[in-house]
Amino acid sequence: MVQSPGRVNLIGEHTDYNDGCVLPAALDLATWVAAAPRDDGRLRTVAARLGEADDVPLSDLRPREGPPWTRYVRGVAALLQEAGCTLPGADLLIDGDLPLSGGLSSSASLELGVGLALAELAGWAVDRRDLALLAQRAEHEFAGVRCGIMDQFAVAFGQAGHVLLIDCRTLEVEPVPVPGDVRILVLDSAVPRTLAGSAYNQRRAECEEAVRQLQAHYPAVLALRDASLEMLAAAGLEGVVLRRARHVVTENARVLESVAALRRGDVAAVGQLMCASHTSLRDDYEVSGPELDALVEIADDTPGVYGARLTGAGFGGSCVALAAAPQSETAAALIMDHYRQQTGRAGQAYVCTPVQGVHVLRDLANL
Ligand code: GLA
Repeated sequence: MVQSPGRVNLIGEHTDYNDGCVLPAALDLATWVAAAPRDDGRLRTVAARLGEADDVPLSDLRPREGPPWTRYVRGVAALLQEAGCTLPGADLLIDGDLPLSGGLSSSASLELGVGLALAELAGWAVDRRDLALLAQRAEHEFAGVRCGIMDQFAVAFGQAGHVLLIDCRTLEVEPVPVPGDVRILVLDSAVPRTLAGSAYNQRRAECEEAVRQLQAHYPAVLALRDASLEMLAAAGLEGVVLRRARHVVTENARVLESVAALRRGDVAAVGQLMCASHTSLRDDYEVSGPELDALVEIADDTPGVYGARLTGAGFGGSCVALAAAPQSETAAALIMDHYRQQTGRAGQAYVCTPVQGVHVLRDLANL
C-alpha cells in the first residue's frame, strides 16, 4: 500500500512552467493505493470514492472512453512499461481523503501513488525524480494538460514540517522549515475547477508569446524567469501578454522574498507577499473568481491569519492561508462560517502541517 499526499503551494503560482521557483508542501490529506499482482496482463483499478472501475490490458493503455481519472492511471502504467518496468498485471484499489478537483493536486497524488505502487509490485527500483518526471509526462500525454513540474515534485519530495523551494529550471529542491508556531490553512471553496485544462494551456501559450516578443530584444531570454519588469517595458509588451508576464516576473521575486522572510521568522512579511500574489493572480493573470476572492478577503480579516491567496492553477479550487498555531482552528471555523453565509457554498477548511512525500506503507498491521 502506498500513501501519496496532495500538495498545497504556499507561493509561486504559474511560475513553474516559466522556469521559475515555487514553494509548495506535501499535505496530510492523501490518496492511498493498495496494489496486488495479477498474472494475466491486465490492469484492474477500482476508485472506491467514485464507485468506478477500469479494466484494461497492459498491452493497450492509450486513452479511450472512460472516466477522466483512468487516464492518469493508464498513462503512468504505460510510461513505466516504456521505461523498462515489466508489469505482469495488477489490481489497484484507490481511496483517500484528499478533496478531488479542489486544486490540491489530486491528479499528481494519484499519478505518483500509482507509479510507486506499480514499480514496487514489479520490484523495479525507481528514483523519485524520475517518477515525478514520468508522472508529469503522463499528464501531458494522456490528460492533455501541459502542467509544470511543481505538483509532481511536491508529492515526490515532501518533507515533514517543511515547504520546498523548487527551482523549476535546475530541478533543485531545498526544504525550508515552517516555523513551529504557524499552521497552513487549506480553504476549499467548493467551486469545482472548471475549464482548468483549456484555460491553463492558454495561459501557458500567452507566456510563450511574451518570451517570443522579449527575445526580439533580448535573445538570451529562454523563459520568463530570465526577464525583469524593465525588460518587459523595453521590449514593448502590451495588453494581455504584458499582464501575464508581469505576474510571472513579480511572482517569482515574491517566492524568493518569502523564503528569506521565512528564514528570518518574519511570518507577517510572508502573509503580505501572499496577499500581493493573490492580487496579481486576480488582476494580471486572471485565474481567480468571486468565491476565491471572497475567501481571501474573509481570511485576511480574520484574527490570527497572516495572509491568504488562491493556490494551484485557480479557476475554482482552494485558497491557502498562514495562521498563528494557537488561533488556527478558530480562524479556520470562522472563515468557513463567514464564507458559507456570504456565498451560499459549502466550503471546507483544513488545518495542515506539511508531511513526507509519497511512500510505501510496509507495516499495515500497525496503521
Ligand atoms: C497546476 C499545475 C502546476 C502549476 C500550477 C500553477 O497545479 O499542475 O504545474 O503550474 O497549476 O502554479
